[in-house]
Amino acid sequence: MKILDTERLTLRELSLADAGFILKLLNEPSFIQNIGDRNVRTLDDAGNYLLNGPLDSYRRHGFGLFLVETKAAHTPLGICGLIKRAALPAVDIGFAFLPEFWSQGYALEAATAILTYGQEVAKLDRIVAIVSPDNERSIRLLGKLGLSFERMITWPEDGAELKLYATDAVSSARK
Ligand SMILES: CC(C)(COP(=O)(O)OP(=O)(O)OC[C@H]1O[C@@H](n2cnc3c(N)ncnc32)[C@H](O)[C@@H]1OP(=O)(O)O)[C@@H](O)C(=O)NCCC(=O)NCCS
Repeated sequence: MKILDTERLTLRELSLADAGFILKLLNEPSFIQNIGDRNVRTLDDAGNYLLNGPLDSYRRHGFGLFLVETKAAHTPLGICGLIKRAALPAVDIGFAFLPEFWSQGYALEAATAILTYGQEVAKLDRIVAIVSPDNERSIRLLGKLGLSFERMITWPEDGAELKLYATDAVSSARK
């Protein structure tokens, strides 16, 4: 199902037919280093990831991670969307693109549209993001999206220290 179009891109729901693309994306060194190793090594693993991750999220929340593809040729570039995690107080925005499609503004274009979608369609008044302190590309993108650094958090699953960004960051002066 199509979610939205931007100038150059289409965002649509992922399906089991995207398992090959997901297998490739989740094994990119940049994905494993910056997001984590999801232990997806085969097409079957990728199918299970899709079923238990994005597809389950669409059913539960009406949103999730979506496929980002070029509008003209339907070339898959990456994923971008909204994630509800038990460990976070608000829905977070997530994005990951194949490295050959970086540096063309595609992630900014997709994530800008997803923020608007989150606010206007999913009616979320607060959207957050979590990022490793050394993920400079992602931090630059969050700045362009208008999210601000709020505080450091310790991720419960692995004890990692992550930066929490938010659309309406509470400044330390107001805390
Ligand atoms: C994070 C990630 C999505 C950022 O991708 P990106 O391509 O750097 O992000 P943007 O879409 O903002 O593109 C910015 C670049 O496009 C350039 N650009 C070219 N055409 C552009 C256009 N039409 N509009 C905007 N920027 C454009 C900008 O000048 C900038 O160039 P630079 O790379 O030299 O700084 C990508 O690095 C990634 O997938 N990383 C791995 C997964 C990950 O870390 N996810 C985030 C976890 S928190």
